[in-house]
Amino acid sequence: MADNFFIATAIDYTNSAPHIGHAYEKILADVIARYHRLKGENVFFLTGVDQHGQKVQQSAEQQGLAPEKFVAEVTGKFTALWQKLEVEHDGWAATTEERHKQCVQKILRRLWDEKQIYKDKQGGYYSVRQEQFLTDKERGPDGEFGPEWGTVEFREEENYYFKLARHKEWLRQLLDSRADLISPEFRRSELRNAVEKLSGDLCISRPKSRLSWGIELPFDAQFVTYVWFDALVNYISFAPGGYDASVTGIADPGHNSEFHRWWPAVIVIGKDILIPAHGIYWMIMLHALGFTDEQLPRLLVHGWWNMGGAKMSKSLGNVADPTALADKYGVDALRYYLMSDIATGKDADFSEERLVTRYNSELANSLGNLLNRTLNMAQRYCGSRVEASDLSNAILQSLRRESALVVTDVTRAMGENAIDASLGAIVSLATRCNQIIEQNAPWQMAKETSRQAELSSLLYGLADVLRIIAILISPVLPKAAREIFRQLKWEKAFHLEDTTFGGLPSGHLVGPPEPLFPRVEIQAS
Ligand code: MSP
Repeated sequence: MADNFFIATAIDYTNSAPHIGHAYEKILADVIARYHRLKGENVFFLTGVDQHGQKVQQSAEQQGLAPEKFVAEVTGKFTALWQKLEVEHDGWAATTEERHKQCVQKILRRLWDEKQIYKDKQGGYYSVRQEQFLTDKERGPDGEFGPEWGTVEFREEENYYFKLARHKEWLRQLLDSRADLISPEFRRSELRNAVEKLSGDLCISRPKSRLSWGIELPFDAQFVTYVWFDALVNYISFAPGGYDASVTGIADPGHNSEFHRWWPAVIVIGKDILIPAHGIYWMIMLHALGFTDEQLPRLLVHGWWNMGGAKMSKSLGNVADPTALADKYGVDALRYYLMSDIATGKDADFSEERLVTRYNSELANSLGNLLNRTLNMAQRYCGSRVEASDLSNAILQSLRRESALVVTDVTRAMGENAIDASLGAIVSLATRCNQIIEQNAPWQMAKETSRQAELSSLLYGLADVLRIIAILISPVLPKAAREIFRQLKWEKAFHLEDTTFGGLPSGHLVGPPEPLFPRVEIQAS
């Protein structure tokens, strides 16, 4: 039976429109999900939106909208973008949905009943203007809270706390023993160091007087739950079988077979939300709910896209807009750039110029050109019929060898989620085929009737490598991959196991060439 693979991403805040960082993460997860589907696995890919919390409440207020209305509008921008960018998710998490609220409340209720949550009074510095308690992180270099906080006063407030600190030793040992839990490896060390410094419990409530846009605590209607406690639960409430599982006691596979067929998930997140949210709060929440160490999700932590070395921010006005970029250069160009110009786990600098240059040289000149000239020559010299009269022919042997090596490289790279390396290998195969064309000069062969069989074999080999390239590149460029198949007149489903050379039947009739990746010019915004 095929394996099940459950992949989820962080859910995006709906306090403002999606930007390139959001698009990168969803495409990354989409590519990994598509690759697992290509391997024949059953895949469930979950993404969605984080709709509660102070930021959303404040943005809605600023626009004079009810939070429901504001959230629905921003959510629409995310769903439209994922559709445009071919982010093919199976599940959609929206935290204002009733089933999610119920799940969060069931989980809170359980932790409360089991005395893992308690009520306490604590004091701290409170910004009246920003309506939030401040920590030492908010102090300026002079040790004072800056003018942006307005009046800061000392306040005491009653709240509910989740017993986090008592699980510190468990988490430390877990991180030492499970090398596979967090990748890349250096993030596990960072998390390990953060756990070392962990002290104190987690405040999981906000009085309704301060924040009303949230999920009510099931044991105290005067409070809503802290946004992270709400958001993290999406990985359960929107997982297959997750809603039912939360009712019967989540961690028990005996009761929750559907949920446990899929769980644990691989969760794709940015580096900013590993510590403390996913690496500490989420791991401890699950442990407290009775999940065993083997049932804990694996975290794939990606880096950030910056702009000219600086963080993208709305206030600096340097945020790249994925919708505008896809409209200008096409979805393939954007997906290709975001997957090829960053190493998973590291940061990268976003550059529209590099997007255009890479697209033109690697897709238009290399792969697009290979498809175009292969089909063009097949049409002109062989009536579009490509025939491998002799598979032991030297050119076919070398195409077989080169494509097999690339399949191995791509499989290895994808196994490590190194999408950039996988694309590098695929493009190098297209470049190699273009060199083989130059070296063998099929236009010369066409002039000699005695070399007709050799010519047809060469074109057969190139068409078959294009078939293999289409399969390998399909997770990143699904539209282009389908288009290559269409032009090859090979309208089959995509399977990784079909990447062995020689899959096209000899004598196959290919289609006429059509431009696959028209060159683009950089456009002013
Ligand atoms: N809502 C929380 C996540 C809750 S998950 C239970 C959140 N939302 S966010 O909208 O701020 O960020 C969503 C994701 O986008 C995060 O994984 C974050 O790291 C990622 N990115 C935000 N900006 C980014 C870049 N500039 N580059 C790459 N990813 C970035 O955090």
